[in-house]
Amino acid sequence: MKFLKQMISVALPKGRLGESVYKLFAEIGYDCPEILENSRKLIFENKENCVRYFWAKPSDVAIYVERGAADIGVAGLDILLEQEPDVFELLDLGLGKCRMAVAGKKGALSSTGKTLRVATKFPNIARNYYSEQSREIEIIKLNGSIELAPIVRLSEVIVDIVETGKTLKENDLEVLEEICDVSARLIANKASFRFKTRQIEDICDKMRHYVSANVKG
Ligand code: PRP
Repeated sequence: MKFLKQMISVALPKGRLGESVYKLFAEIGYDCPEILENSRKLIFENKENCVRYFWAKPSDVAIYVERGAADIGVAGLDILLEQEPDVFELLDLGLGKCRMAVAGKKGALSSTGKTLRVATKFPNIARNYYSEQSREIEIIKLNGSIELAPIVRLSEVIVDIVETGKTLKENDLEVLEEICDVSARLIANKASFRFKTRQIEDICDKMRHYVSANVKG
């Protein structure tokens, strides 16, 4: 069905996931070849296709979308669960698959009665997870290299993303409990969705078809 296209701003997560996501957009008719040229430019526009892309830090994508600086964007479920942004979650893209888990040294959860120190980049997810258990915890917020914390006894466990499991293995740590599966989600600003409904739904429908035919579930 033909309709008047409006310019759509898309916040993409900078990095490998973002490049796969851009290719998805290109496959469904929203290409902007300039974006893959090696450059430090952050914004790219294809007026013909009525699309403007920008590269944001993955953990910032939801902020751009929530505040309407981008109409739509792609963010990991980890970021959405952590930040709880006021956006519409439209589609699971089946990309960037990993797990959110509690990890630590073998037996780290068995010490009873003691406050469990949990190091993490995801304090909200960790707090929500432990609020369903009676265990007393202390959250230690870190910004990266989370696996270091239990090794140097900063914490007993970590709550973190596990993708291949290589980082844990190489540091003699293991998954102790699984919290949830994580993957990339297409999200939309609520006002944009109201005013650009047909175009955002068109993108979402085409993407759903493309993903179900081409991305492994
Ligand atoms: C993430 C995560 C783990 C690692 C897991 O870190 O926090 O450290 O990847 O991947 P793996 O299971 O494939 O080993 P990231 O690379 O984002 O860097 P960071 O330490 O700065 O958070």
